[in-house]
Amino acid sequence: MSIRILGIESSCDETAAAVVADGREILSSVVASQIDIHRKYGGVVPELASREHLRRIVPVVRQALENANLDLRDVDAIGVTHGPGLVGSLLVGITYGKTIAEALGKPLVPVNHLEGHIHAVFLEAHKAAITPDLPAVCLIVSGGHTVLYEVRQKNATIGDTASLWSYRKIGQTRDDAAGEAYDKVSKLLGLGYPGGPILDRLAAAAGDASPPVEFGPTKIKGNAYDFSFSGLKTAVLYHLREDSDYAPEIQAREAAIARGERKFDQLLPLCSRKTLGLVKEFQNAVVRELVGRTTKAARELGISTILVSGGVAANRQLRQAFEQRAAMFSLKSYFPSLALSTDNAAMIAAAAYPRLKNRMLADTSLNASASLPLGWYG
Ligand code: KG4
Ligand code: ZN
Repeated sequence: MSIRILGIESSCDETAAAVVADGREILSSVVASQIDIHRKYGGVVPELASREHLRRIVPVVRQALENANLDLRDVDAIGVTHGPGLVGSLLVGITYGKTIAEALGKPLVPVNHLEGHIHAVFLEAHKAAITPDLPAVCLIVSGGHTVLYEVRQKNATIGDTASLWSYRKIGQTRDDAAGEAYDKVSKLLGLGYPGGPILDRLAAAAGDASPPVEFGPTKIKGNAYDFSFSGLKTAVLYHLREDSDYAPEIQAREAAIARGERKFDQLLPLCSRKTLGLVKEFQNAVVRELVGRTTKAARELGISTILVSGGVAANRQLRQAFEQRAAMFSLKSYFPSLALSTDNAAMIAAAAYPRLKNRMLADTSLNASASLPLGWYG
């Protein structure tokens, strides 16, 4: 009989629930995105996020159970994200998870959101009957995080989804997360929020448009596996300020977005070749930093597996660049699908499985932890 875990995720702006069997088989996964609510503010508004989680959590969990053809009584445990993230948002999922667990007498498994992102890569690989080898270097790259971990097997053989992993943080962003840089640059260019998906497509459409400015490699003192993206964002800002050609097209795009015309096909005609060249140069710089520092870490640590997860892992150029670089150095790189790259609860249910097996449970005193470090469990 398989062990079915109901996962609940509410750390940022997605209300999500999923049922996963034995830490690897996704029976259902439901994600209610709040993008339309936060879009007009150009980023996530914490108060609105918690209010929306409150509104959505019950129907989302019900839907996940219905899609898995299960009753709440049929699940074996509840896995819930308890950090890192926005406290008000986390508390909604935690409170609901605790209530169900207590009412039904089921175990409650606390899950670190970042550990969930790492499990997302394994869930995806499982679909293709692959198991990435550990140790691995894992890059978690999203709107809230850009962090590099060394991931090792702690207590069992590779392929066993019940085995625990241990983590060592080897690098992180010193300022903005990569997704945050995408979102801020998109705002500067009048391309709306979130920025990643639209900039990804515009960069691909840039073809041979020459860059109007060049962004060299970011210099970082100290740890060579750290990242920094705020300088790049500021360089884009100064470039736009210095050249008055950009202002009219930025205004035209802002007007289009205000009318709700935010699709790629609607925005592309409003972008000059110079803008496309700039977007491409920005993306080249982000990808170069992410791929360069991650592969450097893998090679210097003698590790041959690279895992990439989080919203920015959806970026097509990033995937290609990792694959090319990995092939060059006989490394293997793994990504989740688009749906598993961004926040979801299947990854939380998968990460809960080894913790349930190892009886790493919580009681009703479980609280939200805004900056919960990975490795907190020892
Ligand atoms: O993981 P996620 O859904 O939420 C968190 O931030 O935790 O990631 C969202 C971030 C946003 O900053 C968004 O702009 C970025 O991921 N993103 C992308 C792409 N799709 C989403 N960035 C670059 N290229 C993409 N295709
Ligand atoms: Zn996330």
